[in-house]
Amino acid sequence: MYNDYSITKTITPAEYMEMRKAVGWGLFPLEEAQAGLSNSYIWCIRDNGTGSPVGLGRVIWDKGYVMYIADIIVIPEYQGKGLGRVLMEQVMDFIHEQLKPGYRFMVSLCSAKGKEEFYKKFGFVVRPNEDVGPGMHQWFTSEEIEG
Ligand SMILES: CC(C)(COP(=O)(O)OP(=O)(O)OC[C@H]1O[C@@H](n2cnc3c(N)ncnc32)[C@H](O)[C@@H]1OP(=O)(O)O)[C@@H](O)C(=O)NCCC(=O)NCCS
Repeated sequence: MYNDYSITKTITPAEYMEMRKAVGWGLFPLEEAQAGLSNSYIWCIRDNGTGSPVGLGRVIWDKGYVMYIADIIVIPEYQGKGLGRVLMEQVMDFIHEQLKPGYRFMVSLCSAKGKEEFYKKFGFVVRPNEDVGPGMHQWFTSEEIEG
C-alpha cells in the first residue's frame, strides 16, 4: 500500500468534486465545497504515480459527542483493493484517539444503498433496529441562479 499510495490531510474543492462525480454523487459550487472541507477532518489517498486522489474519508466533529462520517469514497478503478478499509481504519483510529477518559461519542453516517455490509465490518449498526428508529434526512436546494 505505502509504496503505491500516500495519505494527505487535504484535498482541493475541484479534486473533491471530481471524486464525487466519479461515484455518481451530486455536485455543488466549489465555494460550498471549500467551506465544508475547511471544517472537516480529511484523509485523501493519492496514487503516487499520478498524484491524483483516489480515495477520500471525511469526518465532521463538533468537539463534543457528535461525529459524522460525511464521505468515504474510492473511485471505481481503485475499488476492491483494500483502500476503503484503509480509509475506515484511519477514521476509526482518529475517533479512538479523541476519546478522553469518560467520554462517549455517537458516530453516525448515511450508508449508500448496498454499502451497509462494508460499514458493518467497522462496528456500525443498521437502523432501524429494536432500539432505535430509522435515520432521516432532507436536502435543501437554493432556487437562485448566481449571476
Ligand atoms: C464503499 C467503498 C468505499 C468501498 O471501498 P473499497 O476500496 O472498494 O473497499 P475495500 O476493497 O477496502 O473493502 C473493504 C472490505 O469491505 C468489503 N466490501 C467492500 N464493499 C462492499 C460492499 N458493497 N458490500 C459488502 N462488503 C463490501 C470488502 O469485501 C472488504 O472486506 P475484507 O476487508 O473483510 O476482505 C467503495 O465501494 C466506494 O467508494 N463506493 C462508492 C461511494 C460509496 O458508495 N461510498 C459509501 C458512501 S456511504
